Amino acid sequence: MKFLAGAIFLSLTFLSCVGLLGCATGSSMALPSANTLSGSGSSARTTPDNNLRRGRALLVTECTSCHRFFEPGEFEAEEWESILPAMIGRTAISKRQGTDLAAYVMSAARYAQEQEATDLVTQR
Ligand code: HEC
Repeated sequence: MKFLAGAIFLSLTFLSCVGLLGCATGSSMALPSANTLSGSGSSARTTPDNNLRRGRALLVTECTSCHRFFEPGEFEAEEWESILPAMIGRTAISKRQGTDLAAYVMSAARYAQEQEATDLVTQR
């Protein structure tokens, strides 16, 4: 009985590690860092890295209380343009923070589109 409990505990621990790792690698792909974005040219030149960094953090903390996490790459930048104002309005963040969040999401969405385009060409 003790053995069984131990085995169950171990396999649960193993499964949750796998799950966490999956999430960690998945989200770093889906949530490019500020450095990656500014190096790629996907972000507006006028948006400093610090703002992108803050925007990225806000997206994770402020946008998951009502629904699942939407990755920037799930919508095109033009679609986000119509989604974001209403969604930012549903959070309690300031206008300044909303601008950072929007800058990050738009840049990351463009970055995802560029990556897809690159993959199309290089995977042939
Ligand atoms: C107070 C609750 C709430 C918060 C906070 C919130 N959302 Fe939403 N979101 C919703 C609801 C409800 C919907 C379903 C569609 C609708 O009502 O517009 C939705 C839908 C969406 C969709 C799907 C739109 C589509 O066309 O399929 C996206 C993407 C989204 N939210 C992103 C965000 C982002 C980014 C943030 C943070 C800035 C955010 N949400 C914060 C409630 C919220």
